[in-house]
Formats: sequence, structure tokens, C-alpha cells
Amino acid sequence: MIGTKRIYNFSAGPSTLPTPVLEIIQKDLLSYQGTGMSIIEMSHRGAIFEDIYQQSIQSFREIASIPDRFDILYMTGGASAQFALIPMHFAIKRKPAYVNTGIWSQKAIAQAEIQHDNVYIAGSSEEQNFQCIPSTIDLESDYDYLHITSNNTIYGTQYKEIPKAQSAKTIVDMSSDFLSKPISWDSIGIAYAGTQKNAGPSGLTIVIIDQEYYQYEKESTPSMFCYSTFAKSQSMYNTPPTFQIYVFGLILEWIRSLGGLEEVSKLNRRKAEMIYKVIDASSGFYRPHADIESRSLMNITWNTSSDALNKTFLEGADEREMSGLKGHRSVGGIRASIYNAMSEQGCESLAEYMQDFAQKHLS
Ligand SMILES: Cc1ncc(COP(=O)(O)O)c(C=O)c1O
Repeated sequence: MIGTKRIYNFSAGPSTLPTPVLEIIQKDLLSYQGTGMSIIEMSHRGAIFEDIYQQSIQSFREIASIPDRFDILYMTGGASAQFALIPMHFAIKRKPAYVNTGIWSQKAIAQAEIQHDNVYIAGSSEEQNFQCIPSTIDLESDYDYLHITSNNTIYGTQYKEIPKAQSAKTIVDMSSDFLSKPISWDSIGIAYAGTQKNAGPSGLTIVIIDQEYYQYEKESTPSMFCYSTFAKSQSMYNTPPTFQIYVFGLILEWIRSLGGLEEVSKLNRRKAEMIYKVIDASSGFYRPHADIESRSLMNITWNTSSDALNKTFLEGADEREMSGLKGHRSVGGIRASIYNAMSEQGCESLAEYMQDFAQKHLS
């Protein structure tokens, strides 16, 4: 018989999901609330799915304190599709501005450059090998929008606050710290995230968009690529990813059961501190990639003195039933992704293992 034992999964995404949510999915799968059908077999136009959709929108608005000026859209294509759609959407009058904090920002910039010849880099940490959030960002020039990546999944850096430009609102790729802490909406024009880290399986992209933006939509944009199409049709212009929307609703209720985003944020801070503490106390055995003031609470990245030692570390982790710790190929080393669903026990186990490993190999 195949077991159902779960291990600690530190994968960067798709990533670990809360066990109570998985149990509900398992229970619902053959017959959702006595209907004799699973949720993935039902029409998205039926009353049951309509209820799931409405409930998820309402819960999301409450839990993330989303002001009325925003619409919530359920789209597909991941954050990568948003990289292209955002510059496609805007009839640029001034210039689109971007902060370059690594590969995901660069992918967004590349899509803007295909479409506009005046893309402006308002800040970059490329010269620092993306170890930090840039200390200076030009917030004074005249922009149509300023785009940032709030958490840099690959390098393990994260903004503490959303930068506020003088002339325009900020567009935020929140893929890897979405729902990990309360969101301050004041300076945000659009926020978007794929769900596969903190909000469910892959396949759903959540877009929170200020209604003010529909007026900038270019008339020539095909309907399927217009944000207003999704707003007008309750994200059902085409068949939406119904399973992912259902799971997103369950995740939101799980967040509510933990006490909401304030509590989730405290929990995430405690978890990250356990691991950073071991790194900082290791007398240089563990070499963190991110500068202290830019450290991410979601993705913790470090190296040891050699690839061979990293490999031994990863093999030992595997033996202790901890997976997904290999660093991204562009940075190497080790990365622990500790999204909302990674438990404190999981982080404790990793911290303990790191201590043991350093003691054994510190020569
Ligand atoms: C910060 C960030 N942005 C964008 C992406 C790309 O997301 P997707 O694969 O959903 O397009 C990722 C994927 O890991 C990410 O971490």
C-alpha cells in the first residue's frame, strides 16, 4: 500500500500546502457536499461553483483588506503572462518604469521592451549580484507605472515596504510573498501573483486591479487579454480554473483560522528567524546570499564552502525527509522556501539539521 506520510517540502513552487486543506480536498473529491460530483466535474456556470467563486472573492477582500477601488480577477498564464499583459494594456503616455531585482524583474522588463521603446530602469541591484533591494530608486520621474517584484524568489531578497512613486501607482509582482503578511494598498495600482506558492496549486493567477486602469486599455487589445473583459464577466469570459479557485477559497479559510494575515506574518517571521539565526551563528560556515537588511522571510538562500559540501548537505536533508532545498540553478547553493504552509516544526527540523551539519563539517 502506498503511504500518505508527509515530509517537509521546502520547494520554491509549486510548494507545500496546508495538510488540513489537502484533507478537505480529499474528502470532497468524489462527491462535493453530497452532489455526487467532484468540483472539477461541475459547470462553472452552475449555482455551486458560483457560490464558491463569490465566497472566495468575499473572503479574499476581507482577509487582505482590499479597498473597494480594486477589482479581483482570476486569470491564467501565471505571473509570466502578466509580464506581457501589463505593458500591452497601457497606452503609454510617459514611460513605464521598472526596478530590476533579478531574473523575474528582468523577464518583466523584457516583455515591456518588446512593446515600448522607452522602458526606464528606476533602480537595480544587478551590480550587487542581486544581494539586496536597491538602496536608491528614482521615485520622482514621470511614469505611467512603476513595476517591482516584491519578493525575489531566486535570490532571497524582499522589499520591506512597497515603494511609492510621485507620478504613478506601483504595479507589484507578489508571486512569492502573496498573503504572507498584511498588504498596504495605498501606493498599489495592480498586484498580481500565481497561486502556486502561498495560495494553492499552479494554474490560477490572481490580479487585484484599480478600476481606474480600465480607461488606459488600448482599443486594439484582443478581448481575452483585456483586464476589463475579466472584470465584466466575473472572470468567466472563458472557463476559469475552477479547481484552483476552490482551493484558493480553502486556503483563505485556513488563513482566517490562523488569525488572519497579522498572525501569519508573525508566524513567518518566527520561522525565518530560526534559520537566519543558525546562519548568523555559524562563524561563516553558512554564507547567506542576501544582505541582512534585504532578507526575505519566504526564501532563504545560502551557500557552503563548496559544491561538494552543498551536495552532502542536500543528501543529508533527504535522509531526514526534507526535500526541495537545492538552490536555483542561477545562484546555486541551498534555498529553503518557507511559505505560509511550512510549519514551525519543519523550520525547527531544518535549523537543527543545519546546526548538526555545521558542527560535523566545521574544520
Ligand atoms: C517572483 C516571481 N515572479 C514570477 C514568477 C513566474 O511565475 P509563473 O511561472 O507563474 O509565470 C515566479 C515563479 O517562481 C516568481 O517567483
